[in-house]
Amino acid sequence: MKGVIISQGKYGATQQYSNWLAEELQLPQLVPGKVDAAALTATDYVVIGSSVYVGKLVLSNWLKKHADLLQAKKAFLFIVCATPPYEAEKLEVIRQQNVPPELLNQCAVHFLHGRIIKKQLSWKDNFMLRIGAMLQKDPVAKKKMLQDFDGVRKENIIPLVKDIMLYNQEENTSVYTKGDRAFELVS
Ligand SMILES: Cc1cc2nc3c(=O)[nH]c(=O)nc-3n(C[C@H](O)[C@H](O)[C@H](O)COP(=O)(O)O)c2cc1C
Repeated sequence: MKGVIISQGKYGATQQYSNWLAEELQLPQLVPGKVDAAALTATDYVVIGSSVYVGKLVLSNWLKKHADLLQAKKAFLFIVCATPPYEAEKLEVIRQQNVPPELLNQCAVHFLHGRIIKKQLSWKDNFMLRIGAMLQKDPVAKKKMLQDFDGVRKENIIPLVKDIMLYNQEENTSVYTKGDRAFELVS
């Protein structure tokens, strides 16, 4: 079974998760802008990663553009964002608003906690963050939005790695799985 990872972020959190996944699953990583229909058609499954800015996936337009082709294969989508894993309702809104309707049922979506280090952000992204905080009425959430955090941990990929391994086993293939290593990941 042939799989590929196609991901895009801005400040390295998505890339870090993509690198860990590529290492654990022995999958090649492709650059979204360079993926054509032929490359997608040649794969059996696709692992797609994207971060979220102001409610929108960096790869939102790419997903829409390739929805037809992706519909024909198994897709795993990992979304990297600041919304913590326990805020299920907010995460569901991100999913509903970004995954093309034709992919909603067959695309397994995993949310991975991201990071914000303000001094690394562009002027524009810092500004957007401050606007977002200004519009936030809840004082606790407002304060949180303006604080740096780093939720990027290798163990966050475990459920996604298990999901992909299970899929490969079910398809009865000889994909390289590194035994049970994904179950022993440490941060
Ligand atoms: C301007 C800005 C807007 C953001 N908007 C959202 C958002 O709407 N929802 C969310 O959960 N996280 C949001 N985030 C957090 C990012 O998704 C998070 O920092 C992620 O780790 C970025 O990953 P990357 O470095 O791969 O791009 C935002 C971050 C910035 C700087």
